[in-house]
Amino acid sequence: MPIQTIPTRPFADQKPGTSGLRKKVSIFRQPHYLENFVQAIFDSLPEKQGQTLVVGGDGRYYNRQAIQIILKMAAATGFGRVLVGRGGILSTPAASCLIRKYAALGGIILSASHNPGGPQADFGIKYNTENGGPAPEQVTEAIFARSKSLSAYKILQAEDLELDRLGVFRLDTMTVEIIDPVNDYAQLMESLFDFDRIRELLTNGQFRMVMDSLHAVTGPYAHRLFEQRLGAPLGTVHNGEPLEDFGGGHPDPNLVYAHELVDILFGEHAPDFGAASDGDGDRNMILGRHFFITPSDSLAILAANAHLVPAYRSGLAGIARSMPTSQACDRVAAHLGIDCYETPTGWKFFGNLLDAGRITLCGEESFGTGSNHIREKDGLWAILFWLNILAARQQSVEEIVRHHWRVYGRNYYSRHDYENVDSDRANALMENLYSTIKTLNGKLIGNHQITYCDDFSYTDPVDYSVSRNQGIRIGFSDGSRIVFRLSGTGTQGATLRVYLERYEPKVSNQNFDPQIALKHLIHIAEDLAQIRYYTGMEKPTVIT
Ligand code: G1P
Ligand code: ZN
Repeated sequence: MPIQTIPTRPFADQKPGTSGLRKKVSIFRQPHYLENFVQAIFDSLPEKQGQTLVVGGDGRYYNRQAIQIILKMAAATGFGRVLVGRGGILSTPAASCLIRKYAALGGIILSASHNPGGPQADFGIKYNTENGGPAPEQVTEAIFARSKSLSAYKILQAEDLELDRLGVFRLDTMTVEIIDPVNDYAQLMESLFDFDRIRELLTNGQFRMVMDSLHAVTGPYAHRLFEQRLGAPLGTVHNGEPLEDFGGGHPDPNLVYAHELVDILFGEHAPDFGAASDGDGDRNMILGRHFFITPSDSLAILAANAHLVPAYRSGLAGIARSMPTSQACDRVAAHLGIDCYETPTGWKFFGNLLDAGRITLCGEESFGTGSNHIREKDGLWAILFWLNILAARQQSVEEIVRHHWRVYGRNYYSRHDYENVDSDRANALMENLYSTIKTLNGKLIGNHQITYCDDFSYTDPVDYSVSRNQGIRIGFSDGSRIVFRLSGTGTQGATLRVYLERYEPKVSNQNFDPQIALKHLIHIAEDLAQIRYYTGMEKPTVIT
């Protein structure tokens, strides 16, 4: 079959963000746009001849077309074998698992994560390296640099492959294996958790759970794991069929977008446990009956209870959290006598720490939790971890969380997002804030004494690479913090994220609504950054 060399011109906007390149579908569908980016990825990789590549996505609109293009380009580049999930489906954690298990050179994952899908909505593509994790910054920078100088790409002239039939197919000299997207991942989960105990819990006739897959990629995984392997009643998984537009919803597991699940868990006759995952399956939200757990607390509680899970019984090497994530897990790490690392936002910074064996668990406030089992955050893994703890402790979610607060104190936490802000205004807000904070050190605002203000900079302890300008932090003498940063995953305008945290050791003060407990900090944040003035918004668009 002939390999064609197609002349092209660079696009100026192919700089990968927090996790890969995300744009509107209409941008990806411009002639040569996807092809250019894929060629830039391939050109930035070492020897590809005969190597294995993993390809799959979250099933959103344009997933199938993109996969056909990538397969033909991989064949033209000389890959020996590509593993593709049936129907083009692979959750991000499952792709990470496959890359590691089959010693692939890397993987291409098609997803815009929790962003909406459909012809008018978002699409995305990211490259994961041989450790199964998101490409580190040196690699994404090389890809971006290459994208700016491309003059041609190579593609095999061939018929489209059928993606829905399991089997081994050929594209010129390359083999394409269409595999079951769930098998390997489910096996991995079974090797980590106490499935017998979880099965007992889910079949005891008393405990009830609901899993909401939000019509995104985890549907097939959740059906297999919870209903088939673990015996939960059919119907436990809601919205379990992946749809190209996620049923018109926003596949983001938080209190705002997963409202159907929230209504069930906060309604009458609520089940004991509720969970949701996002578009590509790497995020998770955990709910108890009438009870919400912040992802920051969840990370801390998983760490404190890890000894109940077979895979982590022998102890944790360390914990890492992204900078804006609350400091709840720091207290658990201190108690366990292990290291706790603070990294910039984005999963890619955890990779080196995991590879070097410095940490076992890691997480972000943005509903992401994971461990050394793969190199991505993992929604279903977190949900199984919680089920394992619930089965072992025989207590409710709320009892477990309240007990944790009694022992370690409560870190009240909230994130306020201002979405779709004019980009220039958002940049001006950050610049203005940056010049303001220089004068704030040591100042008293109300009864809050500022002890530090800076723009977070991170030196990777493994490879010593430095990442600057990762968010403005304002710290207070009582341990409270306010963090400001602009999102790196949006596709339209800018999103300002304001993170608020306050520590409360006293049990009698641990029952407030976080928005009330954080009221003073919220005012200080709005004032200092002049949020209303710069964004033109009276209040945040999303509060989590
Ligand atoms: C957001 C989250 C971040 C997460 C990323 C990918 O990035 O804040 O924690 O790693 O999505 O899921 P942001 O839009 O803030 O750059
Ligand atoms: Zn995601």
